[in-house]
Amino acid sequence: MAKRDSFGSGFGVLVAMAGSAVGLGNLWRFPYLVGTNGGAAFIIIYLAFVLLLALPIMYSEFIIGRRSQANVFGAYRVLAPGTKWCNTGYIYVLGSLAIISFYCVVGGWTMAYLWKAVTFEFSVADTAVLGDTFNRTVTSNTEPLVFMLIFLFVTSIIVMAGIKEGIERYTKVMMPLLFVIVVVVAARSLTLPDASAGLDFLFRPDFSKVTSKTLLDALGQAFFSLSIGCGTIMTYGSYVNKRENIVGLSAQTAITDTLFAIIAGLAIMPAVFSFGISPAEGPGLVFVTLPFIFAQIPFGAFLAILFFFMLFIAAITSSISQLEVIVSYLKEEFSMSRKVAITSSLVVIVTFGVLCSLSQGTLSDVKILGYNFFDFFDKTSANILLPLGGFFAVIFVGWKMKKQDVEDELTSGGLHKLRPAFLNFIYYSIKYLAPVVVAIVLISGLV
Ligand code: TRP
Repeated sequence: MAKRDSFGSGFGVLVAMAGSAVGLGNLWRFPYLVGTNGGAAFIIIYLAFVLLLALPIMYSEFIIGRRSQANVFGAYRVLAPGTKWCNTGYIYVLGSLAIISFYCVVGGWTMAYLWKAVTFEFSVADTAVLGDTFNRTVTSNTEPLVFMLIFLFVTSIIVMAGIKEGIERYTKVMMPLLFVIVVVVAARSLTLPDASAGLDFLFRPDFSKVTSKTLLDALGQAFFSLSIGCGTIMTYGSYVNKRENIVGLSAQTAITDTLFAIIAGLAIMPAVFSFGISPAEGPGLVFVTLPFIFAQIPFGAFLAILFFFMLFIAAITSSISQLEVIVSYLKEEFSMSRKVAITSSLVVIVTFGVLCSLSQGTLSDVKILGYNFFDFFDKTSANILLPLGGFFAVIFVGWKMKKQDVEDELTSGGLHKLRPAFLNFIYYSIKYLAPVVVAIVLISGLV
């Protein structure tokens, strides 16, 4: 059998994981969810979920992947042979499919905006005009579809190149650059008149508005933003060698991701309040607010190009991690070549993607359970499939695997020592805390 592909270095793993985590979830989804869920209280709940739930789940996925060195189905077959556990693999493949199907649409929007930035379409500082531009862009029957296809094409080429030559190489350079640009935009946003109203919104909590929907949205966003619950970390983990430090890499990924989300909030909310845009504007929030800022700062036209280029890259480093889950599954379970696996996945993804894209305009009246296609894919994946997938991962590691084996993975066979108290804390969060809280939020949010 050919040698299985793997990451070349620990830094390579980190950028790939952080590259997967940091994406449209931070810069597009987080700000608008903060906006529609009332601000600071949402952020605090979100942070608590990241710390208490997301990390144990990330460790668990990592443990399953690295210990088995197999795809999301094969992993359970290696670790729990002869049981029904491998069926949980369906949740991960389905979840990844649902996510990438609408993710590629928003990825297409970022490309459309990159194109607009290059052709200087943003020189007008008028929110009405910019809002109109956004609506026209996403409701069109051609523009977003064309860009969505290009987005998927680029994603496929990188996944085609494999782990070390594709995924690792591209993420290493782009992530730091994106960080710098977002900080520059945040600095401008914070110095606008009335920026303090935005800061109030971000940091002064009003818990009276918190409902079970707020909790479910925060949970879904924590899973979405950290790329957990649908096998991404499991799959990447399966390409990681036995010496890397799981706990450290996961913590660094979570910190990087959270930092990006908060800075994205600082870039957007002050401007939203300063310009009198409604924070509850919804998915168009970033696409309306940022061009408005760019139209008002020196070198704004240039920064706009850089920003949307980086956003595109951030989105690509995430979409490749979604596609890789499906591709490694098809490759290993059905002995397909990478090429055949990618092509077959694309047939399904493009079909769903077209439906999601058209649901913004032509197909807006077609509803499943009250949602249009786009929202249906977004909500069922983030708020249901990801928490479910995460739930099964922690149950498996906490209840099915031997404690000894779990500790062995967490410390990489004793190579990375952890204090016994800390090790126990991690283990019991995996075993009790994470599954109980996920179950409560999931059930109360759905009922
Ligand atoms: N975390 C990415 C973002 O914030 C999106 C993403 C990549 C993802 N892989 C995932 C979300 C797996 C859920 C599951 O944009």
